[in-house]
Amino acid sequence: MKIIDLRSDTVTHPTDAMRKAMAAAEVGDDVFGEDPTVNRLEIMAAQKMGKEAALFTVSGTMSNLIAVLTHTRNGNEIILGTEAHIFLNEVGGAAALGGVMVHTVPNDAGGRLPLADIENAIRDKNIHYPETTLLCLENTQNRCGGAVLTPEYTNQAVELAHRHGLKVHLDGARIFNAAVALGIPAAELAAGVDSVGFCLSKGLSAPVGSVLCGNKDFIERARKKRKMLGGGMRQAGVIAAAGIVALETMVDRLAEDHANARKLEAGLTQIRGITLAQEKIATNIVIFDLVQSFPVAEFITKLDSHGVKVVRFGNHRLRAVTHRMVSADDIDYALTKIEQVCRE
Ligand SMILES: Cc1ncc(COP(=O)(O)O)c(C=O)c1O
Repeated sequence: MKIIDLRSDTVTHPTDAMRKAMAAAEVGDDVFGEDPTVNRLEIMAAQKMGKEAALFTVSGTMSNLIAVLTHTRNGNEIILGTEAHIFLNEVGGAAALGGVMVHTVPNDAGGRLPLADIENAIRDKNIHYPETTLLCLENTQNRCGGAVLTPEYTNQAVELAHRHGLKVHLDGARIFNAAVALGIPAAELAAGVDSVGFCLSKGLSAPVGSVLCGNKDFIERARKKRKMLGGGMRQAGVIAAAGIVALETMVDRLAEDHANARKLEAGLTQIRGITLAQEKIATNIVIFDLVQSFPVAEFITKLDSHGVKVVRFGNHRLRAVTHRMVSADDIDYALTKIEQVCRE
């Protein structure tokens, strides 16, 4: 049976070029700083983000956790969105391992944290209060349907945070989707932030990895946190090699995924029983709702039996993500099956 897997862009497999690069990778012991391929990836990543230095990590979750651990101290408070991946989907690592309090601010439909709400959440200097030391933003914003934060918004948020003495970490797991959607270099989206992490293993199709970028001092301290978490890797050039191919060959093609997401949206709006849960499709994520009477778990199971996979995103809510392994024809096929399940 044909399988159209729209659960996430993390399901993408490495390309042939990545597999060849992995087999041929020059390696060394990265804990000693001696893996030439990891070093090359880190230099490339830092350049792409416009930062001084970078650190290869195993996952987006690890990059975010290391950023929180490096920017904060036990007992500090951090501000992030109610829809933030760090808040919802990272096993509470910031609290469990970083000992920080999380102060959430509702994201607006565009994935932003309204500036007035950020300012309101920053604690005054008062003996009763924890110290607010970090603001976390997410671009693209996953749960807000892959919404894109513009450089103008990010710069304003950074200016506000810095004015109050906070650092800013950008969870840029899908920052290249945002850059491609806006037609600008990713570095512009990360210009003022103190750290940015991006994933190689989502739309860019590498099998493993994320890169955390920032200034030299931050990355030196972050490297030590990575080691503490058990994330010091040895001949990691084998996986870094795929990351280099990802950065060299997989960024521009993300525009195809965005076009397929718009095609999916256009089709979904024609199906009775489905409503779109977002104003516009900005990148590769489509979030939609089923009419209240339709049990979402049953819908997913039935659709799965036709070879089309999506994930649950709420009581009546589903998410579909387009990526390299889903073609425009696959979208037509998926729409036929979604329509069939709704009709049944
Ligand atoms: C916005 C965002 N940040 C971070 C992550 C974590 O990435 P990983 O699965 O590599 O830990 C994800 C994963 O889906 C994500 O969507």
